[in-house]
Amino acid sequence: MTKIDFDQYAGRYEAMIAAQTGFFNRDNDYFVRYKVERAKELTGAADAVLDFGCGVGRAMPYFRAAFPNAGIVGCDPSADSLVIARRDNPDCRFFTPDALDPTKRFDLALASCVFHHIPPAERQDALRFCHDRLKPGGHLIIFEHNPFNPVTRHLVNTCEFDADAVLLTRRETMRRMREAGFAIAATGYCLFFPEAVAALRPLEAYLHWLPLGGQYFVSGVRN
Ligand SMILES: C[S@@+](CC[C@H](N)C(=O)[O-])C[C@H]1O[C@@H](n2cnc3c(N)ncnc32)[C@H](O)[C@@H]1O
Repeated sequence: MTKIDFDQYAGRYEAMIAAQTGFFNRDNDYFVRYKVERAKELTGAADAVLDFGCGVGRAMPYFRAAFPNAGIVGCDPSADSLVIARRDNPDCRFFTPDALDPTKRFDLALASCVFHHIPPAERQDALRFCHDRLKPGGHLIIFEHNPFNPVTRHLVNTCEFDADAVLLTRRETMRRMREAGFAIAATGYCLFFPEAVAALRPLEAYLHWLPLGGQYFVSGVRN
């Protein structure tokens, strides 16, 4: 399977996401906002935040709002995505993974919909990369598509930039995180209710056990 080069989608990534997820929520920033807010709940305060696989930097304004005084860094192998990320977020810093200072340590790393683009044979190295860049006690929070949700699977199967996607179950993500040196602190399925039934969204807090959410999260703490 050929790995997708996100350089070719950088200029239209935002529009593609909006077209794909508009049925769930008209404001497509809903997803990044949701994930950053959840990450803040799970970690508390943070002085240094890493968005691993940040793409065009869509999460950055929400990180800035959640962690106003933190140093916020994005890293992504797509140089063209980073050009857009830098233009739109001058108060954050962006690097390709190779260029990220290996001595820098973060309190929180978020990886949102990144690991299904990393071939299974390379996932452990990527997890260790995140592990080694966290302070002891720092959190890695992974959000991934839920392979048990048929709507999610349909969206992935019909999305051009998901042609290289190999979805991970929550169990695989947890196992890999443990093997990379993380203690699992919290996990659950999420993103159950579209905007049309937004009144039901508070119920999500009671449904994290139900493997029907559109995505799931796993929060691990560096040992
Ligand atoms: C679907 S996009 C998600 C972007 C962003 N996290 C978001 O939620 O909008 C997947 C991103 O993962 C990046 N990616 C792919 N392989 C990666 C790797 N080995 N390390 C870090 N990022 C990677 C891609 O370049 C792309 O920007």
